[in-house]
Amino acid sequence: MSRLTSVSTVVTGAGAGIGAAIARRYASEGAHVTVADIDLNAALAVRDEIVAAGGSAIAVEMDVTDREAVRTGLVEARDRFGSLDVMVNNAGISMSTGVFDTTAEHWMRHQRVNGLGVLIGMQEAAKIMIDLGVRGKIINVTSISGKRNNADWVAYAASKASTSSLIHGGARALAPHGITVTGIAPGIVETPLWAGIHENELDRAERFAQYAAQIPLGYVSSADDNAGAAVFLATADSDYITGQIVTVDGGITA
Ligand SMILES: NC(=O)c1ccc[n+]([C@@H]2O[C@H](COP(=O)([O-])OP(=O)(O)OC[C@H]3O[C@@H](n4cnc5c(N)ncnc54)[C@H](O)[C@@H]3O)[C@@H](O)[C@H]2O)c1
Repeated sequence: MSRLTSVSTVVTGAGAGIGAAIARRYASEGAHVTVADIDLNAALAVRDEIVAAGGSAIAVEMDVTDREAVRTGLVEARDRFGSLDVMVNNAGISMSTGVFDTTAEHWMRHQRVNGLGVLIGMQEAAKIMIDLGVRGKIINVTSISGKRNNADWVAYAASKASTSSLIHGGARALAPHGITVTGIAPGIVETPLWAGIHENELDRAERFAQYAAQIPLGYVSSADDNAGAAVFLATADSDYITGQIVTVDGGITA
């Protein structure tokens, strides 16, 4: 079944992990996908994979903290596919820092990408959607950490609280234009994001086994486990939902 036939979608941070999984899934549902990432080569690789599988995609280099780059990428998506219907603000960074070792630099870097980057993506996408008269959908990827901070992830979690807050504020601000703003809050997802956090593969495997033991469903999710929620929030099935966050965490926050 193709639930997103000819829908023009943009996914940020789509060169890897959850963003790449959402981009692939959207394409398999018939969407046109603009694969946006600060790492152009990564975006090109995902685009090539989608096109090789018979899907429709372009790749754009986009640093979500750079308003001009975001605007340029969104205009390219609009011009290439004739619309901008769905914007997924997924790009994010994560560093493990505790209360006492969180520096101003950690704080600002997280807020810049996970907070400001989402704000810019939402603003620039909404301007184009309003201009086109499109009742679009903006989907921000937050985290369960946005709801509950953690002793080891202080700056990250605070920045994800910003992401979540923007879902609520954006939903209210854009509702008069018929644009919905929703979110996905993943739990623990095995993606390249963790590569910089754990010292080596063994450390990573051990940590993931510990995490799995604490997850009611008993396993750490894959990036693809999060893509179904992104499809639902992009289709007409979710038209009356705005300002809400779908938690995809295997029961961690149950
Ligand atoms: N992996 C997890 O366990 C987990 C859990 C909860 C939430 N999340 C959130 O999901 C989102 C995706 O995470 P992931 O695990 O797939 O990460 P990842 O590190 O695997 O991939 C992130 C992608 O974003 C890109 N990126 C980074 N900074 C960017 C910028 N400024 N502009 C554009 N692109 C940029 C990277 O190049 C990379 O391709 C993030 O917002 C993250 O906070 C992840």
